[in-house]
Amino acid sequence: MASRLDALVKTLEGFDSVLDVGTDHAYLPIKALQENPRLDVSASDNKKGPLSQAKKNLEAAGFKDRVRLYLGEGLEVLNEPVDVIVMAGLGGTTIQKMVLDKADLDVKRLVCHPTNNPKAIRQLAHLSPFKIVDEIFDIDQGVPYTLIILEPGSVKYTEKELLYGPILLKKRPKEYIELLKKEFAFTLGLVDQIPEGVKKDQFIHQSQLLKEVIDDGA
Ligand SMILES: C[S@@+](CC[C@H](N)C(=O)[O-])C[C@H]1O[C@@H](n2cnc3c(N)ncnc32)[C@H](O)[C@@H]1O
Repeated sequence: MASRLDALVKTLEGFDSVLDVGTDHAYLPIKALQENPRLDVSASDNKKGPLSQAKKNLEAAGFKDRVRLYLGEGLEVLNEPVDVIVMAGLGGTTIQKMVLDKADLDVKRLVCHPTNNPKAIRQLAHLSPFKIVDEIFDIDQGVPYTLIILEPGSVKYTEKELLYGPILLKKRPKEYIELLKKEFAFTLGLVDQIPEGVKKDQFIHQSQLLKEVIDDGA
């Protein structure tokens, strides 16, 4: 079981530079520099409080002069070439908007950890010149997390892949399938409870997709 931070840092292996958007306490830059002291690191946040905490933590860790800190909204702060952008601990829709708002985004890799709505990240493959190259599902201190990694390219995904992950559907991590089984049971409960109508149809459809995913491995 990998901690979320360890898993995020691992996605930087083989790259020379990173921008951590929404860095908050700067835990990622600190861990990344501990693992690879030669990494070129920038970090940003759109709020002053987190950024000043990031500064304090970087000083305490001895990396004061190793990380360029920016105050700014999303990818607006990107004003120099960078290999990898990490957007972690943010809502899926927020991350999607950050990427779409940045014209001519030219990076080798996007590492996304959406706290909700992973579909919004996968939709980036249809809305921007990126495709999904890996998906990681794990549980950190009881909290499930999904990392979605995109690189330049073009692929079209099915509805099932957008909802449940083209790569996770192939890897089928045990804990992920267990989570989907719970979601299936919950969705069936909703289908039983709610009256006929559009909403009910949506939940019936969703429960059918979930059943297909769960049965795929049976
Ligand atoms: C929950 S913390 C996540 C911290 C860290 N990235 C992690 O994964 O542990 C989210 C941080 O993103 C910042 N944030 C939220 N929206 C942002 C935006 N549009 N642009 C930049 N930073 C943002 C918040 O101020 C906060 O510090």
